[in-house]
Amino acid sequence: DWTTGNVIEEQVAAIREQVGDRRAICGLSGGVDSAVAAALVQKAIGSQLTCVYVDHGLMRKGETEQVEKDFVAATGVQLKVVDASERFLNALAGVSDPEQKRKIIGREFIRVFEQAQAEIIADEGPAVEFLVQGTLYPDVVESGGGTGAANIKSHHNVGGLPEDLEFQLIEPLRQLFKDEVRMVGQELGLPDEIVQRQPFPGPGLGIRIVGEVTKERLDLLREADAIAREELTEAGLDRDIWQCPVVLLADVRSVGVQGDGRTYGHPIVLRPVSSEDAMTADWSRLPYDVLSKISTRITNEVKDVNRVVLDVTSKPPGTIEWE
Ligand code: XMP
Repeated sequence: DWTTGNVIEEQVAAIREQVGDRRAICGLSGGVDSAVAAALVQKAIGSQLTCVYVDHGLMRKGETEQVEKDFVAATGVQLKVVDASERFLNALAGVSDPEQKRKIIGREFIRVFEQAQAEIIADEGPAVEFLVQGTLYPDVVESGGGTGAANIKSHHNVGGLPEDLEFQLIEPLRQLFKDEVRMVGQELGLPDEIVQRQPFPGPGLGIRIVGEVTKERLDLLREADAIAREELTEAGLDRDIWQCPVVLLADVRSVGVQGDGRTYGHPIVLRPVSSEDAMTADWSRLPYDVLSKISTRITNEVKDVNRVVLDVTSKPPGTIEWE
């Protein structure tokens, strides 16, 4: 009989058996899968697990705090947070090309993560032999039985790890679909903000700024995004929308009139979509009054933004993200 209780019980027993008295590490991304996988392993082996959260400075408002405070409070997990935002900003300086941004963010992420791993391994304590990953059943199928494409490569040897270091993987969600993972997370006591979270790309806001990524632009986009999310939640639309990228057209300026005078600011794009699996998507027909409220608030509250536009393109031909 499939129940979340049974899944949890079985996995906890299997993980205890697998790990014994050794140690495991797990990278947290802020997403549902890694959070539920970590919570499950924490339940099984407690302080033998250390989680690593790399703060790349490209998260949305409140998301890092959600991991640092709410996730830790809900699970009691041992967490190592690495604030690497300066490093990511420096690496991204002068870069506008989306694929280049992705490469840089991915590369820096692995370097920082492996440095953190090395520090944990160097601590006193039993051998660290396991890496926890939030691989789901669809990831297993898509990659032909291997591990998911979004997974951190554990044997990259960039961050000063021994040449021959290889982790054994713990993948407690390998047999589950997304909705089942959410149920397991809920049963484990994780907060709704984590368990019901909509998809968010690994490179974060770095690929939602059309143009160079700077601290000022990130701060501006974070404010606009927070307003959009707040109003969508307030209107009860979170379950109807697959995700709603909020994009800053940093390289575009348009004329506006605000207060006493003419402004020359940036447009913000709202990209609400409905989808089953992100392979195809349609633009969400949001109520005009909700769109209106978001637009008014963003142009009133976010400095340098004087225009809000709505993306009405399906996928294909448009992708969900702008970059
Ligand atoms: P697109 O823009 O290709 O997005 O229609 C499909 C889904 O994938 C997410 N996405 C990413 N996720 N790293 C990620 O982890 C990425 O580089 C990336 N690019 C897009 C996007 O948010 C959507 O859910």
